[in-house]
Amino acid sequence: MRTGTLLISALITLFFACGACSTPGPAAVEPQADQYNETYRPQFHFSPDSMWMNDPNGMVYYQGEYHLFYQHHPNSTVWGPMHWGHAISTDLVHWEHLPIALYPDSLGTIFSGSAVIDWNNSSGLGSRDNPPMVAIFTHHNHALEESGSELFQYQSIAYSLDRGRSWTKYPGNPVIQNPGIRDFRDPKVSWYEKGQKWIMVLAAQDRVLFYSSPDLIHWTRESEFGADAGAHGGVWECPDLFPLELNGEEHWVLLVSINPGGPNGGSATQYFVGDFNGSVFQNANAGTEARWIDYGKDNYAGVTWSDVPSGEDRRLFLGWMSNWQYATRVPTERWRSAMTLPRELRLERDKNGFRLCSTPVEEVKELREERIKLEPGMENRRDIGPVLEGQLPLFEIDLVFAYEPVEGKSPETAVEFGIILESSLHEMVIIGFNTYSKEVFISRMQNSGKFDFSDDFIGMHTAPYLLSGEGEIRFHAFVDLASIELFVDEGALALTEICFPESGFQSISTYSSHESVKLKEGTIYRLKRVW
Ligand code: FRU
Repeated sequence: MRTGTLLISALITLFFACGACSTPGPAAVEPQADQYNETYRPQFHFSPDSMWMNDPNGMVYYQGEYHLFYQHHPNSTVWGPMHWGHAISTDLVHWEHLPIALYPDSLGTIFSGSAVIDWNNSSGLGSRDNPPMVAIFTHHNHALEESGSELFQYQSIAYSLDRGRSWTKYPGNPVIQNPGIRDFRDPKVSWYEKGQKWIMVLAAQDRVLFYSSPDLIHWTRESEFGADAGAHGGVWECPDLFPLELNGEEHWVLLVSINPGGPNGGSATQYFVGDFNGSVFQNANAGTEARWIDYGKDNYAGVTWSDVPSGEDRRLFLGWMSNWQYATRVPTERWRSAMTLPRELRLERDKNGFRLCSTPVEEVKELREERIKLEPGMENRRDIGPVLEGQLPLFEIDLVFAYEPVEGKSPETAVEFGIILESSLHEMVIIGFNTYSKEVFISRMQNSGKFDFSDDFIGMHTAPYLLSGEGEIRFHAFVDLASIELFVDEGALALTEICFPESGFQSISTYSSHESVKLKEGTIYRLKRVW
């Protein structure tokens, strides 16, 4: 399972022993004349202006704006009474912060949920000419929880008639009372066209429940799913349900976040693919191992946008780029956490069943600045990064490696290769593939930057590479000052990891433990910051 670790530590030792092999890093990042220049501040990812953030909430597109609400504690950099923070974007890349959308009230604080445009005004909360934007969320009542009751989470709604700028809570809240389930939260609502009704999927302890409604106010319980499916190492949270087409056929994808119980520890998001008839979800991947939308440690509570522009037919996803194991302790000062890049989801089918693939949205290409085309070839270690002259070390790295598959050979013949990201202080993170264990990994160890805020942070985090391979693998990675998102083979696998090097990774090199590995093609882009 961990054959790669030895090779990596040998490489690291070798590297430290010959510091001279490294390209000298550029001077530290020039401070910018604005607030987004703090150490570790993401430069092309969304992070809150200040204070605590967790899950993305209420993601909906309306009149040219992508709305992003998020779990927010405006008075502290650690989790506390939850509000919905708010930001908008016209291109999914640049974000504008707006005032807090939803505040706690007498029913409780505002936990995760979703938002929809009620185009037909089924709720009666707006009009056909000005359809309401309706947020459906969990009220969490801390006083009830402390009193020992199990009934402290219930579902409520609020609406906006001015493009999400101001909100009114529905006077008849809650719209779904707690039926006696301790963890009963995170409603995700969508319009089910075939049945002309709203569908809600809700997390309830170790499973999800489905509800339906004609008007977003009156809800009927339809069914449940999951008690005997998927991973169960922790509580189920933040589900999502949506259709995706594959070869002209419609399939339904169910996302379920789970904490703890992720493949590399702590929080992660699993998915199921199957059929949904307006009432019941049937899992077509039944009997297989849990599948994860991302195998890295830092992509949690992700869900998809409602009401994306018609005709585009894209399913757009965003996750919270952290892990409950250490989210409240990461070494940032004015704010905590960032979101992943927005991603487009796609279904594929392989010998193991359905696979949910994700790639960054097209719009991310807007960030490309300098383009460096690489010469094919390979040495044990080869510096491939651009020389930075005061620019921020923000990169998109797109490499295709060719290797000899090792079917049936012994572990000693294992070959390991990949990408080393390194800072001017010799902090490093390694992205790699082991041809024997058939695992892709991100190695985030003691030398990756700050790590001692949690025992659960460092490690070699792996993902099973189930594809046939054919001796070629593509690594497409986005490197911000404090995160790495890796998409393997057009997003068939994703690994997202945060990390805390002092001032980003200024140098990039390829490495290989065997000369048979070749860099077949490669491009690196320097990226622009968005703030
Ligand atoms: C997931 C979660 C949700 C909950 C929210 C509270 O990270 O635990 O289940 O609604 O965070 O902030």
